[in-house]
Amino acid sequence: MTDTPAPDRFRKDFPFFAKHPGIVYLDNSATSQLPVCVMDRLNRYEQFEKAPPFRGMYPLSVQATDDYEHARDMVRDFIHAGSSVEIVFTRNATESLNLVAYCVGNALIHAGDEVLVGIAEHHSNMIPWQQMARCTGAHVRYLYCSREGSFNPNDLEQGLSDHTRLVAITQMSNVFGQINDLRTITQIAHRRNALVVADGCQSVPHIPVNVRELDVDFLAFSGHKMLGPTGIGVLYGKKDLLNCLPPFLTGGEMIEEVTTEGATWAPLPQKFEAGTVNTGGALALGEAISYYNRVGFDEMIARESALTRRLMIGMTDIPHVQIIGSPDPEQHHGIVTFTIDGVHPHDVSAIMADHGIAIRAGHHCAQPLHDYLEINATCRASLMFYNTETDVDAFLNILSEIRGAMGYDD
Ligand code: ALA
Repeated sequence: MTDTPAPDRFRKDFPFFAKHPGIVYLDNSATSQLPVCVMDRLNRYEQFEKAPPFRGMYPLSVQATDDYEHARDMVRDFIHAGSSVEIVFTRNATESLNLVAYCVGNALIHAGDEVLVGIAEHHSNMIPWQQMARCTGAHVRYLYCSREGSFNPNDLEQGLSDHTRLVAITQMSNVFGQINDLRTITQIAHRRNALVVADGCQSVPHIPVNVRELDVDFLAFSGHKMLGPTGIGVLYGKKDLLNCLPPFLTGGEMIEEVTTEGATWAPLPQKFEAGTVNTGGALALGEAISYYNRVGFDEMIARESALTRRLMIGMTDIPHVQIIGSPDPEQHHGIVTFTIDGVHPHDVSAIMADHGIAIRAGHHCAQPLHDYLEINATCRASLMFYNTETDVDAFLNILSEIRGAMGYDD
C-alpha cells in the first residue's frame, strides 16, 4: 500500500480534530471541516470589521466592499473565470442552480423545449429543472450513464434534439466519484446550440477546474464542501448570458433605480446579489482558497488518491462488500459508495457511528440514480486530504465486523 506523507501536517490546522480525537470523519462530500485560518477570518470580520459593503461611505464600509470584491477575485482566479463579474455569491450550490433554472426558464426556455439532465445528478441539479419545466411547458429528458457511472458521448449526441436548450450535468458524481468529461460534453452540446449547466459541488473542492477551458456556461458550487463555512456558495456564469437573464431575487442592492412603477437592475454581478450579502462567508471562502493555494492541488490529489486506493483495496478484501461504480480507485476521487449484502445501509452507518466513524447512508440526494441502479440505499465514505491512513484502517476494521455484528456467520 502507498504511504501518505505527514498526515499531522494538515490535521493540526483543523481544530475539529483536536476537539473530537475519537471521530473518524469520512463524510467530506457532504461537508468539509474548516482550517483555523478560515474560522479566524470569519470571526475577524464579524467581531471587528463588520460593516455592510456597498452601502456606506465610511472607512469600515469601504474596506468591507474592497475585501468582499477581493474574495470574488480569488474565486475568479481559482476557477479561471475571465472576469469577476461572472462570479455571483449565493448561499450555496442549491441556490446557484435554482437561480439558473429560474432565470434561464424565464428568459430562454419556451413550451416544447427540452432540457437534458444527467440521471446521476443530485436533487439540486434535477428538481429545479423539473420545476422550471412545469412552469414553462418544457420537457425534462434524462441522460443515462453506465452502471459504473460513465456517460457515452454517443448517448449525449443522441439525447440532444433540435428542441434541447440545455444540458444539466455534474462534473463529479457525489455517488460514483466519477468525473465527467465536461469539455467533450460542452463541445457536443454547443454544436447543437444547447447550454451546459455544470454542478461543481464535488469537483471544485478536489480537482483544479478551469471554466474557460471547459467552456461551461454555468458552474455552481458550495463553500462548505471546500473548507469554507456554510451559507456561502458560488454561481459562475458567462457574462453575456448573465447579462441577458432577468434577476432571481429582487430587493435592495440589486437595483439601479426604483420608482413606484418598477425598477432597473444593477450591473453584474450585483444584479444577482439581492439584500445584504454574506460578507463574512465570502471573506472566509477567500481564505479557504488561500489555504488551497498554499497546499496545492498536486499534494491534495496525491493524498486523496493514495487514501482512496488503500480504502478500496481494503474493501475489496472484505467479503460481501459491494462497491458502487468503477472497481478502479482512480475513478473515485475520494468517494466510495457501497453496500453490504444483507445489511441495511442505515444499520451499517449506525454501527460505524457507535465506533466513532462518520459516513453517510441513504440515497445521498440522488434518489433517481438509486432507482436506476435498483438499490434502495447505499453507504458512502468520502475522503479529504486531511484524512489519514489510520482513519481508513479504522473504517476497514469496523467494516469487516459488521456482518458478524448483524448475526451472520461469514
Ligand atoms: N450534499 C449532498 C451530498 O452529501 C448532495 O452529497
